[in-house]
Amino acid sequence: MQIYKVGGAVRDRLLGKPVTDIDWVVVGATTEEMLAKGFRPVGADFPVFLHPKSGEEYALARTERKSGRGYGGFTFHASPEVTLEEDLIRRDLTINAMAEDDQQNLTDPYHGQRDLEARLLRHVSPAFAEDPLRVLRVARFAARYAGLGFTVAPETLELMRQLSESGELEALTAERSWKEISRALMEDQPQVFIEVLRECGALKVLMPEVDALFGVPQPEAHHPEIDTGVHTLSVLEQAARHKQPLTVRWACLLHDLGKGLTPEEEWPRHIAHEHKGLKLIKAVNERFKAPKDCQELALLVGEYHTHGHRAQELKPSTLLALLQSFDIYRRPQRFEEFIAACEMDARGRKGLEQRSYPQADYLRGAANAARAVAVQPLLDKGFKGPELGEAIKRERLKALKAYKDAASA
Ligand code: CTP
Repeated sequence: MQIYKVGGAVRDRLLGKPVTDIDWVVVGATTEEMLAKGFRPVGADFPVFLHPKSGEEYALARTERKSGRGYGGFTFHASPEVTLEEDLIRRDLTINAMAEDDQQNLTDPYHGQRDLEARLLRHVSPAFAEDPLRVLRVARFAARYAGLGFTVAPETLELMRQLSESGELEALTAERSWKEISRALMEDQPQVFIEVLRECGALKVLMPEVDALFGVPQPEAHHPEIDTGVHTLSVLEQAARHKQPLTVRWACLLHDLGKGLTPEEEWPRHIAHEHKGLKLIKAVNERFKAPKDCQELALLVGEYHTHGHRAQELKPSTLLALLQSFDIYRRPQRFEEFIAACEMDARGRKGLEQRSYPQADYLRGAANAARAVAVQPLLDKGFKGPELGEAIKRERLKALKAYKDAASA
């Protein structure tokens, strides 16, 4: 049997990037031989094994053929006769379809190295279309390697367009899609992921609510970039530049969905878009079964981001209601993430990327003022039950009023 390193490990070594996990392909072996060498099978009927010591994945060389819709609709053929070239041709991109032996001799039948040099994400063969998830994967690689100058080859974009139009994307499970989306959002240029999906028509299928923002104008005074879709991409770009966590990036992507619902007669204003957007945010959250913290933050940022921008103008009672909505007493981290998302929203505007955002410290100070209200003195005075709740609220309001007065003095 011959063993080769394949896929991302070869690609990233040639790019001079750190290699984290290594995939191996084994040519000329049978399942029995692998088991005899101590490899552990990964699934009952898939020819993939874990190395007894390193735990790395070793797959028997295989060919694949699509036999139905969706991910389950696959038949594969693994046997000692399947060649390395046959295994590589079923892979997604030429830069992912190179193999290397233990002497670092490269097997590159589909010119991955040439495409690495040309900075091109190009599909290997028409077999690309057999897994629609690859549309998301290519967009994710575009987001990851945009900084190196990579773009999607026109013929690959065309294939992605056909796949998006075919209805195949709808067969993807929420879990597989979310895995790609969440990884793509954490790349250096997550806005490129959305741009590529939009360009090939996949955004319209996967997140029509985000796609609908392109072409919707906003008032130029606050939004020199005017277009709501362009603004959304800039907010995402800022979130990545400021190394924000996934929760914040997800909230940034979805914060303005309500603007896609504004009747054209009302453009460029978007009255109550915060509230109108909530049902759309909920739909997108649920479509991809986003984790609970992502879902919650996206809804809260959607509803309250303009409150964040107007923080210093809010009445103490409105400020208190905002802090209560975030449950700042038990969830301080979530309020910090809200502040971060608001700041990214403020900076994701043409020419305003470097602006300061004093609202952030003002909101932090308000949260601290409300948290500083001590409960013990109220208990000592004999308050309990709902009366205690009222008394705490009164004290917090007083504290916020004093805070606001001091800040504006
Ligand atoms: N692959 C594929 N189509 C898929 C998934 C994977 O062709 N839908 C192939 C590619 O050759 C890929 C390899 O399997 O390089 C390993 O896949 P994976 O570990 O998911 O990706 P990597 O290329 O290693 O990329 P990453 O750095 O994102 O892990």
